Amino acid sequence: MGFLNLGPRGVAFLLCAWPTLAAPAKRAAWKHLQTTQYGDVTFGLGNQTYLANIQHPTAVLGGDCSAATTQQGSLVPFTVIFTEDEVVTGDYLKGVIASYLEGDDVFSEDFLEGLYIVHNGTSSKASLDSSALGYISGLAPKHLFLDTTYDGQYSTDVQVTYVAAPSGSNITAGPYAASISETSVAFGAVYRLYRDSHRDFLYGTYESNDGEGTFTPVEVFQSRFWDPMIPVPSRIYSWADSRPFAGYRVAIKDLFDIKGLITSGGSQAWAEIVEIANETAPSVQRIVDLGGVLVGKYKLAQFASGANPWEWQDEHYPFNPRGDGWLTCSASSSGGGCSVAAYDWLDFAIGSDTGSSMRRPAAVSGTYGNRPSQGLMTLNRVMPLGAATDTAGVFSRDAHAWVHFAKNWYVPEMCQDSNITGLTALEAPDSYGFPKRILYTEYLPLRNPAAEEVLQAFIKNLTAVFGMTVENFNMTAVVASTPDGVPKYRDLNNATSVLNSMTQYQEVGKPLMEAWADRYDGRFPPIDPARRPGWRQYNESYYTEELYTESLTVKRAAVDWFESEVLYSTPESCSESIMLWDIGTGGLPSYREQSMNNNPNDTSFLAVTPAGAGVSGASICPIYGCVDMTIPIGQVPYMSNVTFVEEMVPVTVSVIAKRGCDFMLWNMWEKLADEGVLKTIKTGRTAF
Ligand SMILES: *[C@@H]1O[C@H](CO)[C@@H](O)[C@H](O)[C@H]1NC(C)=O
Ligand SMILES: *[C@@H]1O[C@H](CO)[C@@H](O)[C@H](O)[C@H]1NC(C)=O
Ligand SMILES: *[C@@H]1O[C@H](CO)[C@@H](O)[C@H](O)[C@H]1NC(C)=O
Ligand SMILES: *[C@@H]1O[C@H](CO)[C@@H](O)[C@H](O)[C@H]1NC(C)=O
Ligand SMILES: *[C@@H]1O[C@H](CO)[C@@H](O)[C@H](O)[C@H]1NC(C)=O
Ligand SMILES: *[C@@H]1O[C@H](CO)[C@@H](O)[C@H](O)[C@H]1NC(C)=O
Ligand SMILES: *[C@@H]1O[C@H](CO)[C@@H](O)[C@H](O)[C@H]1NC(C)=O
Ligand SMILES: *[C@@H]1O[C@H](CO)[C@@H](O)[C@H](O)[C@H]1NC(C)=O
Ligand SMILES: *[C@@H]1O[C@H](CO)[C@@H](O)[C@H](O)[C@H]1NC(C)=O
Ligand SMILES: *[C@@H]1O[C@H](CO)[C@@H](O)[C@H](O)[C@H]1NC(C)=O
Ligand SMILES: *[C@@H]1O[C@H](CO)[C@@H](O)[C@H](O)[C@H]1NC(C)=O
Repeated sequence: MGFLNLGPRGVAFLLCAWPTLAAPAKRAAWKHLQTTQYGDVTFGLGNQTYLANIQHPTAVLGGDCSAATTQQGSLVPFTVIFTEDEVVTGDYLKGVIASYLEGDDVFSEDFLEGLYIVHNGTSSKASLDSSALGYISGLAPKHLFLDTTYDGQYSTDVQVTYVAAPSGSNITAGPYAASISETSVAFGAVYRLYRDSHRDFLYGTYESNDGEGTFTPVEVFQSRFWDPMIPVPSRIYSWADSRPFAGYRVAIKDLFDIKGLITSGGSQAWAEIVEIANETAPSVQRIVDLGGVLVGKYKLAQFASGANPWEWQDEHYPFNPRGDGWLTCSASSSGGGCSVAAYDWLDFAIGSDTGSSMRRPAAVSGTYGNRPSQGLMTLNRVMPLGAATDTAGVFSRDAHAWVHFAKNWYVPEMCQDSNITGLTALEAPDSYGFPKRILYTEYLPLRNPAAEEVLQAFIKNLTAVFGMTVENFNMTAVVASTPDGVPKYRDLNNATSVLNSMTQYQEVGKPLMEAWADRYDGRFPPIDPARRPGWRQYNESYYTEELYTESLTVKRAAVDWFESEVLYSTPESCSESIMLWDIGTGGLPSYREQSMNNNPNDTSFLAVTPAGAGVSGASICPIYGCVDMTIPIGQVPYMSNVTFVEEMVPVTVSVIAKRGCDFMLWNMWEKLADEGVLKTIKTGRTAF
């Protein structure tokens, strides 16, 4: 052990043993778990479970591998290391492996069963020095593969195989599952399978790597728990990728098409009648194109409804990690906010917001979540609710990451046509023209006085950083006193209701009812109560195209008024003022069990509209097309009736600016994060 012959071209050196070398770490044995129906493999190493993409390996490299050939069908955990150094040292290798262990949650020393060192420097010849060979010997890999730049005829106690890694091959650094034939080695990308212990996902997915942009579902289940398994690729794969979203792990609401997967909208009946998506929604494709990885489809209130936890029938309601673990995740984008709050291995989640569905889940999970300006993101290939009110947003735990994501995702070519929104063309400048005033609305104060203290401290910070003033503002009174011709809340509620009823009925409800009746002797499909009465009683003679157009006109008039009289642009400010309001629970816990929310001083239902307010605050931006973002600002204690100890519930505030001033808000968050006012929130029971 430890005697190495290192000899360029036959000149042999007898090296001393490394007497102080620790015995090679004992690696966990490869355990084949299953070959999936897609031809990929799940395997265990120690107590971790992995998936390897064998069907479409990342790279197949040719060379004489005859001395290393493995049994057909068997795989070797491999570690790929790149180096520009002409002389590779033991310290270098040690440092790289330490950085893998430190920076990646997929790699483990168990992948050192095989080691492939690739030279990507400028020299045409490179070598491993004796310290490198000694270090490798200590690792005792079963296979040592070297790029052909290393032509040193190393003979070590480890079998060496030379395989070229031509530029243009897709091999990157990181862990792989390799299969070795006589003439080539195939490196399959490795994913760690995480348990979705909060059951926030429907299922996991990974890129098939078939060159067609197809995704493969993960159909792996552990009977001990009832969770889906979510695959995350090694972060190392993207370390040398300069694209803005390289390696970001992103969860997608099951309302967006992903090629190769069913879009269920949270309905098994719908899943039964539709085809597998043959294209990815452009909004999601952009994420992939920028280097992001899609890790799974998350749960949503069926057909993006506002159903309460106890009204979910088809799916099991997701769990919120905050507080006692028994709090609501809110409705439509529930799995997104809760999964971002739950898992460090997840970076972002994409959702939609028609009536509140990004902002409210963000509020109850204590994450950052946005409803963008109407029209900022295309919703092609996204199951609609109301085409003129639907929007797409992103959840994050970190303000800087959130802003970076938004600035790369919301780009002009992704905007909607104004014939969908019915509004004037959207302009969304990257503005540093910050607002002058804070409008403290009738939706405040937060009902929990301790939470209101958190909000007041935040407002002090906000005014200090931006030099703003604070004014009380009663939106209900302002709308009520508008001149004739400016739509009032009553008309606006009607118009919104028409806009939100028609698109989904036409594109989803009606086709589903018809297909179901055809298949099952006239039966109505089994769907949750949130949609059953509305679709059952839908009156096609009432919901006409004329009514739709009229409703868009009403909305347009309201938006035009709002943008000239309430939140307007000035030469100094994109949005002269911003409105603060509460979309959450007033700093009180709201449980997933209905009856537990009946203690009005200590608990809350979700969508509470204060007495005297003309509409739910959540409806302001769906009506006026404005941007509304929910941000976590602190937490307050409550005595849980589930765990019977004191727990923490997040405190958040929602901030509204004029349509098109999204980037002004993003720039404000960036500044507030720089000043330490906005924090990176934690996963788990507490956000702070
Ligand atoms: C899994 O194995 C690692 C390494 O042996 C160990 O540190 C960890 O505690 C184990 N985790 C569980 C859940 O057993
Ligand atoms: C070589 O590979 C390393 C690790 O992947 C990377 O950081 C580095 O930028 C690469 N160098 C070149 C010249 O490609
Ligand atoms: C690299 O990956 C791309 C995308 O999957 C594929 O089109 C290309 O053929 C691969 N290149 C090689 C050399 O395998
Ligand atoms: C997807 O399927 C639809 C309906 O069958 C078809 O019209 C469309 O051309 C297909 N798109 C692609 C990219 O294959
Ligand atoms: C909107 O206009 C585009 C062309 O600019 C057209 O393709 C599309 O069908 C129109 N959509 C609606 C809802 O009118
Ligand atoms: C924010 O407020 C806290 C106290 O309320 C204060 O200590 C801190 O300095 C303020 N930060 C900024 C940037 O104003
Ligand atoms: C806001 O105005 C409405 C309508 O005038 C009124 O009923 C309500 O009490 C006011 N709310 C507050 C908090 O002043
Ligand atoms: C609003 O809708 C209701 C029920 O659909 C209808 O009775 C009422 O007349 C409508 N109001 C206005 C102002 O359009
Ligand atoms: C459907 O709407 C039409 C037009 O508004 C109305 O005349 C009719 O009574 C409605 N039918 C039902 C069953 O409500
Ligand atoms: C806990 O239960 C008690 C007794 O029903 C009730 O008074 C209290 O408001 C509840 N508190 C919370 C936070 O649920
Ligand atoms: C809630 O608090 C208010 C004000 O402190 C009090 O008057 C009321 O009795 C409380 N209600 C309940 C159900 O405890």
